[in-house]
Amino acid sequence: MIIAQITDTHLADADTADPVFRTRAENLRQCIADINGLDPRPDAVIHTGDMTQHGLAAEFAQARALLAALEVPLYVTPGNRDGREGMARAFAGDGDMMPDCAFVHYAVEEHPVRLVAVDSLADDGGVKGDLCHARLAALDATLAEAPARPTALFMHHPPFDVPAAPDPFAYQRRQAAADLAAVVSRHPQVVRIFTGHKHRPWTAAVGGVAASTVPSVAADLRKGRYAPTMAGRPVYQVHRFEGDWGFASETRLVGSGAHSG
Ligand SMILES: [Fe+2]
Repeated sequence: MIIAQITDTHLADADTADPVFRTRAENLRQCIADINGLDPRPDAVIHTGDMTQHGLAAEFAQARALLAALEVPLYVTPGNRDGREGMARAFAGDGDMMPDCAFVHYAVEEHPVRLVAVDSLADDGGVKGDLCHARLAALDATLAEAPARPTALFMHHPPFDVPAAPDPFAYQRRQAAADLAAVVSRHPQVVRIFTGHKHRPWTAAVGGVAASTVPSVAADLRKGRYAPTMAGRPVYQVHRFEGDWGFASETRLVGSGAHSG
């Protein structure tokens, strides 16, 4: 199974005259064209949140209009800028996404690797994430449903320190990440945790499972130091499930051709 991961697109509405936001929309268009052109083509695309800049309905409408060009199934999870209600409204009725529950929590069953969306938003709407008992219990129950199926979690806030960032830890409470790690460690079928939010590539282990965050699609918001030739060109990641060692991941600069390497 191949998953393309895009994140942190930070889109405005379609009518914006602001060149920054027009460029961000173009960054997403370029990513989508690149993903559609991959050979082999991914089985699924995940967007790990901060799809929009302010969580406005018009911004989600723009995001949906752009993402409609994807030729593979898309699964989404909210970022702090999106808010769960706005995203739930925007994607209600799309397959298994956005069930009628308090959180954006769902499982995708139709691929070789089971995908489970985890809602990492804090209830106060702040920048930092949180994971309450109800969500962790729901995740525990969802994972218990299919103990023999390899499973990947995807969520917005990375549940590990990103030391290069000015504020390395993305959650309000350190216990939230510890509690998630405890749930993950009880379910050995979990093979990977995909996240966004930090706008830079970073990898760690959470509950014994590889966990990663990736650069923002919005090239102006990408954090870290990169070669000058990458300036203005969005990046995303392609994760290939190989069975023996879980997901092997590649960072792709758009316009690099249809094949790896
Ligand atoms: Fe974020």
